[in-house]
Amino acid sequence: MVDKKIVGEKAAEFVKDGMVVGLGTGSTVFYTIQKLGQLVKEGLSIKGIPTSVQTEELAKELGIPLTSFSEIESIDIAIDGADEVNSELELIKGGGGALLREKIIARAAKIFIVVADSSKRVEKLGAFRLPVEVITFGYEMTEKHIRAIGLVPEIRLNGGTPFITDNGNYIFDCQIPEHVQPEMLERMLNMIPGVVENGLFVGMTDLVITLDQEKNVVML
Ligand code: 5RP
Repeated sequence: MVDKKIVGEKAAEFVKDGMVVGLGTGSTVFYTIQKLGQLVKEGLSIKGIPTSVQTEELAKELGIPLTSFSEIESIDIAIDGADEVNSELELIKGGGGALLREKIIARAAKIFIVVADSSKRVEKLGAFRLPVEVITFGYEMTEKHIRAIGLVPEIRLNGGTPFITDNGNYIFDCQIPEHVQPEMLERMLNMIPGVVENGLFVGMTDLVITLDQEKNVVML
């Protein structure tokens, strides 16, 4: 928790007056958002664009003014957590189920910053199962297609029934093959009818804020 707080709060230093800020989802970026709430109370003027209903509620509680895509031309900076980060700054995201809105916002941002404590840094992506968001119609068939390209999907449950995303979809948590190029897999998955998006974020990250073994903040 302390580690998440350190990296989360550090990211808030990159937010400047007048910016439109993509607000990620999860327990690390929670500290960024909390810090931004404090700065807004002290006079910082920003507009947030949230990646989930959970974050929207948090931002409202903290008094961070919100905006939406109908009101803005671009996002100046987006800050979000990750489930895994490799040395190429490729990510697995979606542990919190918000991957679709997170990817839309990360892609729209001029700068995308990831806050990740050292437990998230990996040599190779895939120990964390890859979240894949699918529409509910025909999800049994979509599952077969995901299996056919070598993944092992399991539907995410919430108290015995399928977990429903903010977009009304299901999520398959998927074991991915050992030797797979993230970029290739990201594309292959999104070509399957019924797949809405997957949690591989390739070529999107500008900066990772993390900690070294001595708990110093480092930027990758
Ligand atoms: C939510 C995400 C989160 O960013 C990811 O799961 C990391 O969360 P946390 O900071 O709580 O470990 O992708 O969909």
